[in-house]
Amino acid sequence: MRKNIVAGNWKMNKTLQEGVALATELKSAVKNPKCDVIIGTPFIHLATVAELLKDTPIAVAAENCADHASGAYTGEVSAAMVKSTGAQYVIIGHSERRAYYGETYAMLKEKVQLALANSLRPIFCVGEVKEEREAGRQNDVVKAQLEGSLFSLSADDFGRIVIAYEPVWAIGTGLTATPEQAQEMHAYIRSLIAARYGAQVAADCTILYGGSCNAKNAASLFANPDIDGGLIGGASLKAEDFCAIIDAF
Ligand code: 13P
Repeated sequence: MRKNIVAGNWKMNKTLQEGVALATELKSAVKNPKCDVIIGTPFIHLATVAELLKDTPIAVAAENCADHASGAYTGEVSAAMVKSTGAQYVIIGHSERRAYYGETYAMLKEKVQLALANSLRPIFCVGEVKEEREAGRQNDVVKAQLEGSLFSLSADDFGRIVIAYEPVWAIGTGLTATPEQAQEMHAYIRSLIAARYGAQVAADCTILYGGSCNAKNAASLFANPDIDGGLIGGASLKAEDFCAIIDAF
């Protein structure tokens, strides 16, 4: 069954104390959401926030994990370590990690496999940059990202993936994709999944939209048949804004 999800991505924001304060506010504000709710926090916050939100409707995600299982990789955090905090999800392949940290299709494929092997659900991000959209190449770009990192998974493993379509030109810019642009890409992504894994797997896959999604535009985005929720950056940093997006369902 396809789930609707509103997920936050705090990115590199908030000290531990500020993060705990926000999670505490969300804990009291989010009572009977009409969708699944996830917050993605920096590694530092995970154990504390996961404990705080235990037995609540809010699940916790890491924003990244290592592409190796363990060993001499100074500064890295493994999927097993993420799992041990109580987190249930991990964001993989965010455009900021692809662009600033050189994450390749092959590295992301490793991360996805390690996340799955450690019973974490990947939230796998795809999306084109502005020049690619202007050249009409967005479908090719997203297809290559899916094929390069996900489409060698078994159908069972693929069934554990949440996809997030985040056009890079819409992230943090205030320029949201129109509901039509987003729906068109989400339907295309679902058609690719159907071609690879069959209609049922495609129908069951949650595909989130991300990129300047906020309380004002969330309802018109989520109203589309292939848009199953959002991955929220800036607007996830204040409880009031994030809750208003959850309430769009
Ligand atoms: P904004 O909502 O700040 O545009 O960020 C979107 C995003 O990158 C979520 O992962």
